[in-house]
Amino acid sequence: MKGTTTLNLIAVGLLLLSLIVSPALTASEAVPCALREYPTGSVCVCNSTYCDTLEFEEPITVGGFLLVSSSRDGIRFGQSRDATKMPVVPEVKPIPKQRFARSTRPVTIQLNRRRTFQTVVGFGGAFTGAVSFNLGKLEPTLRSCLYRSYYSKKVGIGFSLMRIPIGGCDFDLKPWAYNELPEDDVHLTNFTKLDQRDLIKIAQIKELMATAENQDIKLMGAAWSPPRWMKSNNDWSGSSRLKSEYYQTWADYHIKYLQLMTDAGLDYWAISTGNEPMNAVIGFLFIRFMSLGWTALSQGKWVGDHLGPTLRSSGFQNVKLFAGDDQRYTFPWWFSQMDQGHPNATQYLDGLAVHWYWDGVTPPGLLDQAVRLYPDKLLFNTEASLGDKPFQTHGPILGSWDRAESYITYILQDLQHSVHGWIDWNLMLNEIGGPNYAKNYVESAVVVNTTSGKEVYKQPIFYGLGHFSRFITEGSTRFETTTSDSAVIVVGFTRPDQKTTLVFYNKKSSSCEVIVKDPERGVAQLHLPPKSVHSLLYA
Ligand SMILES: *[C@@H]1O[C@H](CO)[C@@H](O)[C@H](O)[C@H]1NC(C)=O
Ligand SMILES: *[C@@H]1O[C@H](CO)[C@@H](O)[C@H](O)[C@H]1NC(C)=O
Ligand SMILES: *[C@@H]1O[C@H](CO)[C@@H](O)[C@H](O)[C@H]1NC(C)=O
Ligand SMILES: *[C@@H]1O[C@H](CO)[C@@H](O)[C@H](O)[C@H]1NC(C)=O
Repeated sequence: MKGTTTLNLIAVGLLLLSLIVSPALTASEAVPCALREYPTGSVCVCNSTYCDTLEFEEPITVGGFLLVSSSRDGIRFGQSRDATKMPVVPEVKPIPKQRFARSTRPVTIQLNRRRTFQTVVGFGGAFTGAVSFNLGKLEPTLRSCLYRSYYSKKVGIGFSLMRIPIGGCDFDLKPWAYNELPEDDVHLTNFTKLDQRDLIKIAQIKELMATAENQDIKLMGAAWSPPRWMKSNNDWSGSSRLKSEYYQTWADYHIKYLQLMTDAGLDYWAISTGNEPMNAVIGFLFIRFMSLGWTALSQGKWVGDHLGPTLRSSGFQNVKLFAGDDQRYTFPWWFSQMDQGHPNATQYLDGLAVHWYWDGVTPPGLLDQAVRLYPDKLLFNTEASLGDKPFQTHGPILGSWDRAESYITYILQDLQHSVHGWIDWNLMLNEIGGPNYAKNYVESAVVVNTTSGKEVYKQPIFYGLGHFSRFITEGSTRFETTTSDSAVIVVGFTRPDQKTTLVFYNKKSSSCEVIVKDPERGVAQLHLPPKSVHSLLYA
């Protein structure tokens, strides 16, 4: 085993070297990662004057390619490109063949463009109260760097989706909602202006859009809980239902929010029927943050009789409506039950939203079943994070590649199972994975040093996300790919600009040779370091 490890390290060293010295490869325009090692792994450090970018010239001529790679052993968006060569052959393998004798035959990835699947909308993260609070701790120039890192399509990872809590969520300083007072106020007479916390968020989001030069970010709202007086238990958390006398009030609440946000200059693309309804049905035993419980039947009734008709007859009839917003094990039965609650319920839906927290123990086939039942609906993953389980480390593990691998693996799986959009949880958290009033600390792709306000740490997860979000542009259609080795996972897309994007991951702890066979464009041979993720883009 020891011998293998040494060999791998040599292989990585040579790969990096060849990326730099090979005459076939041009130096990239990008600002490289300032890698810093912590006992738990390596992060990329950004400060006010330095932050790595993902900049490249797109291959234009047929046969030109761009290969972007990240790995456990320290590669972060390493680039290898050739705009002229044909066919697509990144010759990144100066290691003598016999040294790989033990690490099996080359893995073959086969493309089949004739068989196509879903068309992707985009990728993104969540702008919670915690994110807003953490941003407030940073120097303004560093804030701008982060905005670009996430949402720029020129220097960042090109996020285009953003989930925003309507009122509070657990990632906030305390639970809150609009119109907490007066109580039993069926007409929401006190929901007339935006809360200070939202005003700060709006200013930050506008600054983000301007700085990242990305004005068409799709905003998705989701409420965690109404004010307590609308709920059966008159509390933020615990087992609860919406009191039936407030079904219309809770629908109106959403319209009021959309109106105030529009007045403030943010047009929402979508809302959901509410975050994780099962939390206050079965999860209340261990979930201590604000939640509203629904059975699927009663949610169906609410959507069919109240939210659906109210939204569609309002000035926001084009705002998309997503339901579910809960774990994979609720798929697809939740939606059929909604229709049992009201025959029109799912007709009002544009999308189905799923969270990833129990993906390890629930099969992805449930997503395909939902899509077969509701073929005209979008399917989005709307939340993901690590460290929520009792047996996991809560909060960030600086530099953890294992956590990046978890993201990469499940994003690949979701994309292979009909998902059109993928949204991460908090865009950035502090050193302990908060703030969170319920102490539900978790991991984040970016960790902010709130002690100094002068540094942020881009976790391996950030790079894992970027390998998808920057390269699988909006409107990309997935086609069939097969791999001869299940430890090399792959997805393939034809983009609207007709370029091909493959994203693949070598899960092995050893390096491997991969041969990509594209019946239309030729054959590419690549050398993949251990535990490495790649985006291959070619014309
Ligand atoms: C910012 O980061 C760069 C690159 O790591 C480093 O050279 C520079 O000294 C840092 N600036 C400050 C003020 O720490
Ligand atoms: C309206 O809400 C604010 C808090 O946003 C509260 O201070 C005020 O007392 C409320 N007004 C009434 C009449 O309850
Ligand atoms: C379902 O929607 C149709 C119009 O699309 C309406 O005529 C019908 O009354 C609705 N059904 C119920 C039970 O509300
Ligand atoms: C955050 O900054 C402080 C002050 O510069 C420093 O002592 C601390 O080590 C930093 N945290 C991390 C995780 O590097």
